[in-house]
Amino acid sequence: MDRPDPGGAADPRVGGRAVKEVVFDAETIQARVRELGAEITEAYGTDERLLVIGLLKGAFAFTADLVRHIRRPLEVDFLVAASYGDAMESSGVVKVHHDPVVDLSGRSVLVVEDIIDSGTTLRALIPRLEARGAERVDICALLHKRLPDVAVEARWVGFDAPKAFLVGYGLDHAEAFRHLPYIASL
Ligand code: IMP
Ligand code: MG
Repeated sequence: MDRPDPGGAADPRVGGRAVKEVVFDAETIQARVRELGAEITEAYGTDERLLVIGLLKGAFAFTADLVRHIRRPLEVDFLVAASYGDAMESSGVVKVHHDPVVDLSGRSVLVVEDIIDSGTTLRALIPRLEARGAERVDICALLHKRLPDVAVEARWVGFDAPKAFLVGYGLDHAEAFRHLPYIASL
């Protein structure tokens, strides 16, 4: 079990704040990512042209780990969207800073997200990808806060998350803590 370590805690960028409690340790995360990779491998037909789109920055670690457990041909791209700024609550406005440049028509797209909170990001992005001609768009989210009235259908979810604000394994607070190999509350 990981304990909050000095390398990740007490970050001066967030006023010397430290992480509080490890919620998912590195081994637990890696075991679940392996399972998800195996399930995703089984889920797509051999004739499907799979494009994995990781949502940056939060899903960078998850995407990199996940694709290495998917045993079939695929392509990887990234989409940069932001709805948070430096605050701990979603601003509700989703800005897209970078879209995949590849042609999406006829593709099976798997959107990889770090965490579904209000669902605002995915509700804005999925129709955009569908409008660009994707054959189907599925979502794989590492974490899901399961808030009431969040109507986002994720085909794969790694873990149900506590309602706390989480950092680590890609998740940040004001850009701090993304590098932690575990997920902790702040
Ligand atoms: P949503 O649009 O409200 O579902 O939020 C999606 C994005 O907000 C995620 O991709 C994260 O980048 C960020 N986010 C939501 N909850 C947390 C959290 O607990 N910690 C860090 N980032 C979060
Ligand atoms: Mg994000």
